[in-house]
Amino acid sequence: MNNIKKYIHWIINEIRYHQYLYHELNEPILPDIEYDRMLKKLKNIKDQYPEFFTDNTPINNVGYIPSGLLKKVKHQNPMLSLENIFSKKDYYLFQSKIKKKLGCIENIIYCCELKIDGLAINLLYKFGKLIRASTRGNGIIGEDVTENVHYISNIPLKLLGNHIPEYIEIRGEIFMMHKDFESLNKNIIRKNKGKIFSNPRNAASGSLRQLNPLITAKRKLNFFPHGIGGFSKTFNLPCSYYDCLVKMKEWGFIINKQTKLVNSDKDIFDYYQKMQDQRSNLKFDIDGIVIKINSIKIQNKLGSNNYAPNWAIAYKFPAQEKLTTLKNIDFQVGRTGVITPVAKLKPVMISGVKIKNANLYNINEIKRLNLHIGDTVVVRRSGDVIPKIINVIIKKRLKNSKKVIFPIQCPGCQSKLVRYKDEVNIRCLSGFSCIYQLKKFLIHFVSYDAMNIQGIGINIINQLVDNKYLKTVLDFYSLNKDMLMKLNNFQEKSALKLLYSIKNSRKVFLSNFIYALGIRDVGKINSKNLAIRYKKLDFFLKSDFNSLNQIDGIGMNIAKNILDFLSQEKNIFFIKKLSKKLKILSVQEKKEDFYYKNIFNNKNIVFTGRLVNFKRKELERRFISLGARIYNFVSKKIHYLIIGEKVGSKFNQAKLLNVKILDENKLIKIFKKN
Ligand code: IVH
Repeated sequence: MNNIKKYIHWIINEIRYHQYLYHELNEPILPDIEYDRMLKKLKNIKDQYPEFFTDNTPINNVGYIPSGLLKKVKHQNPMLSLENIFSKKDYYLFQSKIKKKLGCIENIIYCCELKIDGLAINLLYKFGKLIRASTRGNGIIGEDVTENVHYISNIPLKLLGNHIPEYIEIRGEIFMMHKDFESLNKNIIRKNKGKIFSNPRNAASGSLRQLNPLITAKRKLNFFPHGIGGFSKTFNLPCSYYDCLVKMKEWGFIINKQTKLVNSDKDIFDYYQKMQDQRSNLKFDIDGIVIKINSIKIQNKLGSNNYAPNWAIAYKFPAQEKLTTLKNIDFQVGRTGVITPVAKLKPVMISGVKIKNANLYNINEIKRLNLHIGDTVVVRRSGDVIPKIINVIIKKRLKNSKKVIFPIQCPGCQSKLVRYKDEVNIRCLSGFSCIYQLKKFLIHFVSYDAMNIQGIGINIINQLVDNKYLKTVLDFYSLNKDMLMKLNNFQEKSALKLLYSIKNSRKVFLSNFIYALGIRDVGKINSKNLAIRYKKLDFFLKSDFNSLNQIDGIGMNIAKNILDFLSQEKNIFFIKKLSKKLKILSVQEKKEDFYYKNIFNNKNIVFTGRLVNFKRKELERRFISLGARIYNFVSKKIHYLIIGEKVGSKFNQAKLLNVKILDENKLIKIFKKN
């Protein structure tokens, strides 16, 4: 018994501590899923041993007790939260509880909404005028942020239209868009002022809960309503939740367009799946969907408990953040010598993907996290973004664990690393005499948009370099069958195939050749523009600052990089030798690229079905080189859906959203037009 008491005491303290970090400091260190787990554990223990619990247990508190900084406000009607479910099984349990209470559940209409990952707010309007805005706080007492919300453009200060109640409380979510979150953090880093926010939710909370509302004004916040609190007796509340939203729209609020009425379990599951698919394409964070019974009459019949209504539920998406262990740090040397730290993690599944590595960007990130090997870390993977370490659970740090220190020598060639003034990157300056830089360069050289030597990947490059068959790019053209057959898994047939693709690569367009040189900041588009301007390799080699500066996209810095590159004797020596082995084609390919570029530049593209006339990977790369972006899911943001045979559900979604559909025949025509 004593042990249980001790454990209850411990877990309550832990929960309170994490509530404090989350609500008070906007700096949570635990992923939501871990916090929910603790809360669930506490609830289970309470069911077993109710005698050990008081009303003050944190399960009864909706949120955290607010600090003394902002003025406190008692809500006229408590602000409830939502119970969470995580599976279809949980959903059926929710259904059966409703069924039990109502006696029958046929023909119930549900309103499905996004669960916005922000913070709840109560807006009190009297005679249509915004009188007070308060955060949820602990659900009973919140904080006064009235002045602050004056700076949130989609919160009306005065309700529009007719039938304005004498008094009404509008409830909803304040949140921050991804782009505003990114630029806020960038600014904090640039000005070296304060700590960056770990996610848009914390950024929104930190931006709203400010004593100086002018700070809120500078941060771009948004608002979606998701309920009505109290209202005056004379007001005729609409009969359904959906109609309440329509009313709020008339009053001047912006309603989320994804909100949908449904009347079957299947529709609810479809909605959940669709929103989960679209999650990475949205401009703001969501962490699930909310399912609400639409009829207000039924809502009232079902009522609420102290914590949440019985007529609504949050069906959460799989967590995007998980805990794992930092096993090591790999300091990788990039093509241009930049050292990038990569965290090697104990593998962990996050939304269906096994995560083993996380990007640590640069030395500042390592300093920010104060990483030690063996640390328990929170890893976040959202959408297609490369996984990132959000923070470290310091409490779980092992004694005597080693602090991560940025190396002073290159892990490839042991030369001294250099950090230029005003630059965050740390570099190895050895160029190709550093084996890692050489390997990375060779991979770039053979890539599709460069020399397009098909069939060579990192594995073969590693072996060729380690066997000393490749010391420079020139050696590609002296490789022979015997050499290749000494590599792992190479037989005569595969060796001949590779030699054939090397031979094929000898015919190359000037733009691809320039790109293959790997000049700093000269990407695919710049390479094309350079090829158009100079037409011949010799003319490019003689380029000067003035002519470079006239080219679209080539500013002072890039021009300087090009001239630096071309002024080095060893580079010219290699280019001359290399060009003798190649046939460099100029001009005619360019026009068509610009035609494609006009169509696909800056466009978002999704593929569905099996392609017959194109290789999917090649087509994707081609689109990317023309300035397009490839996405996995159809949304309003998508401009083109490319379809092959046996299309999937993306096809119907695209039709619904009026996304342009291109089949392979149309693509062939477009590509042939020039
Ligand atoms: S309804 C009485 N609808 O999620 C019903 N809440 O985890 C109260 N949230 O406290 C909330 N999107 O801050 C509702 N569409 C939505 C929501 C939503 C986000 C937040 C809200 C709530 C929390 C519960």
